[in-house]
Amino acid sequence: MQTITDLVEVLENRQTLDQAGLTRLLTTPKAEPLYQAADRVRKRTVGDEVHLRGLIEFSNYCRRNCLYCGLRAGNSRLHRYRMTPAEIVATARFAVGLGMKTIVLQSGEDSSYTVSELCAIVQTIKKMGVAVTLSIGERSRSTYAALKEAGADRFLLRIETTNEQLYARMHPGMSYQNRVQCLYTLKELGYETGTGSLVGLPGQTPAMLAADLVFFKELDADMIGLGPFIPSPGTPLAQAAGGAVDLVLKMMALTRLLMPEINMPATTALGVKDPAGYQKGLSCGANVVMPNMGERDYKRLYAPYPGKEGWASNAETQLAKIKAVLQQMGRTVSPGYGFRVRGG
Ligand code: 5AD
Ligand code: SF4
Repeated sequence: MQTITDLVEVLENRQTLDQAGLTRLLTTPKAEPLYQAADRVRKRTVGDEVHLRGLIEFSNYCRRNCLYCGLRAGNSRLHRYRMTPAEIVATARFAVGLGMKTIVLQSGEDSSYTVSELCAIVQTIKKMGVAVTLSIGERSRSTYAALKEAGADRFLLRIETTNEQLYARMHPGMSYQNRVQCLYTLKELGYETGTGSLVGLPGQTPAMLAADLVFFKELDADMIGLGPFIPSPGTPLAQAAGGAVDLVLKMMALTRLLMPEINMPATTALGVKDPAGYQKGLSCGANVVMPNMGERDYKRLYAPYPGKEGWASNAETQLAKIKAVLQQMGRTVSPGYGFRVRGG
């Protein structure tokens, strides 16, 4: 039987490992060699620069009912908000003023904005000289195409889990096949495409997470976001156990080793679950942080899970805290747009 160190070495040298090997690394109690290898590969391929992506959560309305998410349509306890196009553009301008080179527009699946409204928002923000990332859920191919035409550069759509039974249980009324199709459509249309998983969902096994990693690689995703499941009040999973930080870190490290040149954030959920979450993520393969650019009230209401609002009172203080963390770690803020590097 190969040792953990052997498996890590194979991964680091060949950027591939079978599902059994991945599962073994996900369950090892001695993950330190894995973390160190991911940190080495991160440094060698994407370097010490960290890309900051200014996140604007512009609407917390959602037509979906994902069991784990506080924004689910069935959560009648949540006060809903929707920023106007003018507010979204003004927030983007503010974020660009703070030095953000990418603006991420995120919302629940809110069908109240028309495609032409969304396109106009993208066009206006693109004129500010930044990259634009969308995270607005499953849409038709023609909508994705129109938004790409309007100038959107990237799109985030997590698969959440590749286990079809678990997917079906977590996502009533949704189709796994359609979600996969959306991801391939986005790639085909030329978006830099991001996906990822929720780690620690009830019923999720290490073998399922290993299959997620294989899926990321097969899709050839440009970005991967991984965060712990955090039980959210007002959802059917409010009393469930949450995901473990070390399991998220193992998933991140394995992702970096399988796909050396991708962009990968230390996610907000990781920062919420662990006070040192950003540092840990950045030491296990991450090279991106997504500071929240929104008003405190909106930030509080955009609550897929609890605890998000606590980190900082406003965008400026949050940004200052993130920069302090980076400086302390010997990492620098990237001056570039942070597109995926190829052949790194
Ligand atoms: N805990 C952690 N992450 C969550 N998300 C939704 N609900 C939760 C939760 N309870 C994540 C989903 C989604 C992303 C925007 O937020 O993975 O893709
Ligand atoms: Fe809506 Fe996304 Fe939450 Fe699902 S995870 S309920 S699609 S906001």
